[in-house]
Amino acid sequence: MRKLQFLFMFMLLSLMTSMSFGQEKRDDFYPTEIWKDTKGDTINAHGGGFMYHKGTYYWYGELKRGTTWLVPGQNWECYRVNAGGVSCYSSKDLVNWKKEGVVLPANKTDQNHDLHYSKVLERPKVIYNEKTKKFVMWLHIDSQDYSAARVGIAVSDKPTGPFKYIQSIKPNGLDSRDMTVFKDDEKSAYLIYSSEWNKNLHISKLTDDYQNVSGKDIIALPRMSREAPAMFKHKNRYYLITSLTTGWDPNMALVAHADSIMGKWNPGYNPCKGEKADLTFTGQSTFVLPIEGKPGKYIFMADVWKKTNLQDSRYIWLPLEFKNDSVEISWKKSWSLTK
Ligand code: GAL
Repeated sequence: MRKLQFLFMFMLLSLMTSMSFGQEKRDDFYPTEIWKDTKGDTINAHGGGFMYHKGTYYWYGELKRGTTWLVPGQNWECYRVNAGGVSCYSSKDLVNWKKEGVVLPANKTDQNHDLHYSKVLERPKVIYNEKTKKFVMWLHIDSQDYSAARVGIAVSDKPTGPFKYIQSIKPNGLDSRDMTVFKDDEKSAYLIYSSEWNKNLHISKLTDDYQNVSGKDIIALPRMSREAPAMFKHKNRYYLITSLTTGWDPNMALVAHADSIMGKWNPGYNPCKGEKADLTFTGQSTFVLPIEGKPGKYIFMADVWKKTNLQDSRYIWLPLEFKNDSVEISWKKSWSLTK
């Protein structure tokens, strides 16, 4: 009888555990498949930005939820969903992600507000400022036809928000569409943005508090029509992965490099290898993450846009490696950081 009681209790406990966690702990990355958070819900954080802070990785991304429609009157495939704001997930191992919620919500009432759900809120990136002790978010802010072309700034005291929206700007008086931010070792930070109708890719040094541009600006990739920038630094050299400008459709990535971030950039080559390498494996770059404690190891991160059903867009993460000083990203159906 006692044995039976024990067995019953054991089964009940196992059932409760699997119900409360919803999902088993995972080890592997499965590029392009649906990824679940620790509760078993689909991870919704597109155009992602990543930050490592005090032992935890944070993933910020566009919350894309609801019906996709085509904005009328455009001569390109301007598919979109209502802006859901910026979602955040946290993880210690980069594989199991806990949902932290929406850290910068869309505005529901004021049509003129930058964050109104009818607008475009894309590619959020967060960096920590040691001097002000603030987490600073930069993101692409636009009208639904992408004609406003601005960049927004928000701040928070905690990585998990809530973020307070400050303003949007035209950096150096210029239009700004796809963008990212990069924090260098010596604590300077930079905005990297596609400008002048995406013709030129600029790099602008930020002010010391990271909340504005400082006025120091260069065109890193002139007349190359590059977007989706993702920057990283390896052995004192700066690398910048970008895509071409074909809307939601995939195209070929390039990796540019420079020995000084505000110096001369070499436009580079396609780092992708294997099936669909000329289409970035059907993805578009968003971030390159250095793995903490593993110098020289990086993850290349990209979005697979499903243009007619944007909420079903997926993620591609792949190891980024150096082979004889060349950047290589090879397709893998699944892989792990530990094996
Ligand atoms: C892409 C861009 C995305 C999104 C899309 C809209 O080129 O990288 O972030 O803006 O265009 O069509």
